[in-house]
Amino acid sequence: MADKLYIFDTTLRDGEQVPGCQLNTTEKIEVAKLLEALGVDIIEAGFPISSPGDFNSVREISKAVSRPTICALTRAVQKDIDVAADALALAKYKRIHTGIGVSPQHIYDKLRSTPDEIIERAVAAVKYAKKYVEDVEFYAEDAGRADNEYLARVVEAVIKAGATVVNIPDTTGYCFPGEYGAKIKYLMDHVANVDKAILSTHCHNDLGMATANTLAGVLNGARQAEVTINGIGERAGNTSLEEVVMALRCHKEVDIDTDINSMLITKASHKVSSLMNMPVQPNKAIVGSNAFAHSSGIHQDGVLKQRETYEIIDPKDVGINESVIALTARSGRAALAHRLELLGYDLTKEEVDDIYQKFLELADKKKEIHDYDLLYLVGDVDRLKQQTISLKFLQVTTGTLVPTATVVLKFGDHERLATATGNGPVDAVVTAIKSLINENVLITEFLTQAMTRGCNDVGRVHIHVQCDNKIVHGFAAHTDTTRAAAEAFLDALRILNVTEKVEVEK
Ligand code: KIV
Ligand code: ZN
Repeated sequence: MADKLYIFDTTLRDGEQVPGCQLNTTEKIEVAKLLEALGVDIIEAGFPISSPGDFNSVREISKAVSRPTICALTRAVQKDIDVAADALALAKYKRIHTGIGVSPQHIYDKLRSTPDEIIERAVAAVKYAKKYVEDVEFYAEDAGRADNEYLARVVEAVIKAGATVVNIPDTTGYCFPGEYGAKIKYLMDHVANVDKAILSTHCHNDLGMATANTLAGVLNGARQAEVTINGIGERAGNTSLEEVVMALRCHKEVDIDTDINSMLITKASHKVSSLMNMPVQPNKAIVGSNAFAHSSGIHQDGVLKQRETYEIIDPKDVGINESVIALTARSGRAALAHRLELLGYDLTKEEVDDIYQKFLELADKKKEIHDYDLLYLVGDVDRLKQQTISLKFLQVTTGTLVPTATVVLKFGDHERLATATGNGPVDAVVTAIKSLINENVLITEFLTQAMTRGCNDVGRVHIHVQCDNKIVHGFAAHTDTTRAAAEAFLDALRILNVTEKVEVEK
């Protein structure tokens, strides 16, 4: 059986520290329940001394979640530890995470102390936390820049004092993978009582090496990895959970695995991104919207023949139904034919060739070709009518009155009207449009930009709309930005193939 790597998730502590990512207690409980379902072993729920809100969240998460260990962060300060113990009182499994800086920068510049005094304070903090809980984790802050010989002395002393886990953070994301791996190996080889505790990685991504460093640590003996969903966290972020989990799943030969249910990874990523208002970059490994999208003709042809030619992970393993064959000017006939087949067309080679020429002309003008473009190209007017929604009329009143929008949408050959209010004109328009469609959609990103400058300029609106697990991008431009917003929203709804809401007769 593979060796187990414990997953310590710090999305709700290190991740939530990021400006703009703050969650309220209800939202934190929602994330914590999802982390529990995902199979994380330890949830770092907060830093209770830092604010009453953090204290309350740790307390409420302790009640709401029962399988994982709930962990609370402290400094090596008695008051912090008292408050953390209080916040954790109702947790079924609890851990206090205490620690202090161990690099020269932390010892001399930040703490204005000496190496020996730091060891004394570290030992005292662990012993004090042990009075409250059995499970005490010690973090040797900025271990990445600490001298290995000194670090080994710290680790040995805190394990002797009762630490069950010792965290070796690369707090500033400074290390090279080889250097961080060697650090863990040095501790495994030189700390006499290392077998009495688990060594943990906690790597930041300042140089883009957090995942590589974490894996180097794991390959050299660490058996806990501290991670966040989507890699969010201080500055450039923390190691991302999904990357570590899937790297180990891809490399079975290392014989180390986690208990994570990878099928929930995409769901967790979307949840954290939308609650924290933190969009995921499209090319982000595992969870970016392009992570399983193929756009060049050669790649598309290969994937359609045999998925593994250009994919090392089956998208289904992370909860995505299928790879995306993005149709662009670089796509080949194979990709076009495949998409047409999925849309239900049984076409001859000559017919596909003919459509391919029109497709290339259109693809030169548009960045991406969507299903409704293909319907148009195939000339399936009836189907196009059924699926195309367009804006027939829009009127908005705004200013000191409650913003109100009236829209008339054309669904195929008939029209529907709706009126709605909102906290601004765009909100009112979006609410009115949503009231006319069947599907539950969520706007995950909304961006307006002026083309050049001046208040009479053309406004460009980019919008990301989510429906189930799919997120699409809609775009429109108009001198009236509210109208551009309505058109961009409809652009996305057309890509999602949303349908008209059926009116229930009363
Ligand atoms: O990066 C770090 O060193 C930390 C510690 C508080 C664990 O987040
Ligand atoms: Zn950190």
